[in-house]
Amino acid sequence: MKRVLSGIQPSGQLHIGNYFGMMVRMIQYQEENELFCFIVDYHALTTINDRKRLESNTLNAAIDFLALGLDPKKSIFWIQSDVPQVTELTWLLSTVTGMGLLERGTSYKDKTARGISPNVGLFSYPILMAADILCYGGDIVPVGKDQKQHLEMTRDIAQRFNKIYGDLFVIPEPDIKKSLQLIPGVDGQKMSKSYGNDIPIFDDEKKIRKKIMSINTDSTPIDEPKNKDTPLFQIYSLFLDEKGKQELEQRFDEPGLRYGDVKKELADKIIGYFQPYREKREYLENHLDYVKQVLQEGAQKASVEADKYLSKARTAMGLDYTG
Ligand code: TRP
Repeated sequence: MKRVLSGIQPSGQLHIGNYFGMMVRMIQYQEENELFCFIVDYHALTTINDRKRLESNTLNAAIDFLALGLDPKKSIFWIQSDVPQVTELTWLLSTVTGMGLLERGTSYKDKTARGISPNVGLFSYPILMAADILCYGGDIVPVGKDQKQHLEMTRDIAQRFNKIYGDLFVIPEPDIKKSLQLIPGVDGQKMSKSYGNDIPIFDDEKKIRKKIMSINTDSTPIDEPKNKDTPLFQIYSLFLDEKGKQELEQRFDEPGLRYGDVKKELADKIIGYFQPYREKREYLENHLDYVKQVLQEGAQKASVEADKYLSKARTAMGLDYTG
């Protein structure tokens, strides 16, 4: 049995990019593997400095995950900061991490290029992420394609630690679904809350429809075939099986297709797809005590695992003078 582990950022309402990139795969993995899943509020602190917003984002992410099918009986599910041992491991790992490694971080470079004035936490974000993974001995890490480099950094850091101090950490394998390209947002850039181009999973129905109707399209005349390398086609494909996808391809290839009709159809499809989960979500929202209890129990279990790896690392590094 493999240990599958991943974390999700509580950066606001979760969107269908989060769902297909990571959440739905974690939910599938819980059936046949050991699943460790957490909400990375420490990471969120690098960009959110508002306690109310952090709290509501974090609890909402937990509610979303449970509503979508994460089963606390089949998984360990917790909030990152409820197991503060990872921050100690972050420090230990930071002493074997080269500056150059972090300076090459594309996610960091993108954020600063967009004018975010970086704090040290944002710069060392990948080390905290490495600690998240190494602290629990994760074998497989399902993530979206945008996290590929972060996973490579985790592997580098673990290998370097193991080389200096002995084989201690599991070298994790990223699990990035090949068939999923970067999931585009309504404007065709990578779907991201911070770009404002995301389609949320559980927002008000009207708002979701409006977002879908705003998907960028080109001005190909109705009586000509349409381009399939477009966000409308790619987003729609996420909700289709192979056969459905072929049918959609055909419709795009034949003249006569109206983008507006396809968008309306897609809106119905997306809303219908998440409808059953929406009801479960409402239930959970009204039973917050249950949600919090699940998270507390998850943190207790995760903490036992974290202690094991942390104490091995401390000993390997020589931090056990007094026994
Ligand atoms: N950086 C990841 C993201 O933005 C979130 C994350 C933090 C994570 N720690 C992790 C993912 C550990 C996998 C494993 O999506």
